Amino acid sequence: IKKIGVFTSGGDSPGMNAAIRAVVRTALYHNIEVVGIRRGYEGMINAEFQDMDRKSVANIIQRGGTILKTARSQAFLTPEGRQIAYNNLKKINVDALVAIGGDGTFTGAKVFGEEFDMPILGLPGTIDNDLFGTDFTIGYDTAINTVINAVDKIRDTAESHDRLFIVEVMGRDCGLIALRSGIGVGAESILIPETKTDINAIIHRLEISRKDKSSKIIMVAEGDDAGGAFEVAEIIKARFPNYDTKVSILGHIQRGGSPTCMDRVLASRVGVAAVEGLLNGERSQMVGLIHGKIAFTSFEQAIKHHVEVNENLLKIVEVLSL
Ligand code: F6P
Repeated sequence: IKKIGVFTSGGDSPGMNAAIRAVVRTALYHNIEVVGIRRGYEGMINAEFQDMDRKSVANIIQRGGTILKTARSQAFLTPEGRQIAYNNLKKINVDALVAIGGDGTFTGAKVFGEEFDMPILGLPGTIDNDLFGTDFTIGYDTAINTVINAVDKIRDTAESHDRLFIVEVMGRDCGLIALRSGIGVGAESILIPETKTDINAIIHRLEISRKDKSSKIIMVAEGDDAGGAFEVAEIIKARFPNYDTKVSILGHIQRGGSPTCMDRVLASRVGVAAVEGLLNGERSQMVGLIHGKIAFTSFEQAIKHHVEVNENLLKIVEVLSL
């Protein structure tokens, strides 16, 4: 391997820059050239390439977003699009790739690696923490800390007014942001897509706890089966018309900001391991961290396997929220 291409794709996540930096610096350390591909697969098709040196990744470890920019590419879903991407990479002599992103990114990487002779390794970059084969994804820790900082502020005003807040957080298929941050803010209920939401049980808990007039926080993952925060608020308002109920949707604030130290270190570790993995002949796998150790998991498994929700965390919610 003489030249590696690195790119970020799909939804951005804090720590992607730290991952780019690790890939670039590790490659240069091993005397391998690196090219940055801008806007993910879209940039591969449009030949948006930039040479990377040590300086091009200086002073980015602390920055949110991605200096290479990102996109969700429709054209790459077609065989014609992927052929153009491959031709463009070959023109500049790229002979291996590091893809930083989530399940959509790895779905593309898996197909590309099957169609063409191009070793690819992936780094788990998503705030959702929904990839099998790593305990945490790059950006998750920062996102849940952003959530608890925001909800702590909501709690202040909720407590002053004895209000009930329905707070919606990101995670269209996955409730891990809601679950951990919900525990972290002492939410009274946490609604996630992985478990069937029993609205009657939530109402029952509210009935019991209403006697004690104080603030209540219900945390809802955007992909929950009961619907989004507004739907849940309607159901609760119908049952408790006198309860002062408000909705707060945190939105894309969760995707930005300076990465936490945990995310920077995770990104650095898997970034180094990806380049070294390519040099050792690994391909079509995601590089994660399981129990503190580098682990390679096939793209196939990383995207298909369901990430189990920790039963312990669910139990903790049950015990602590009443
Ligand atoms: O996958 C990351 C994520 O932030 C999800 O939690 C969320 O559902 C989605 O991306 C939002 O995507 P977009 O920014 O394209 O609206």
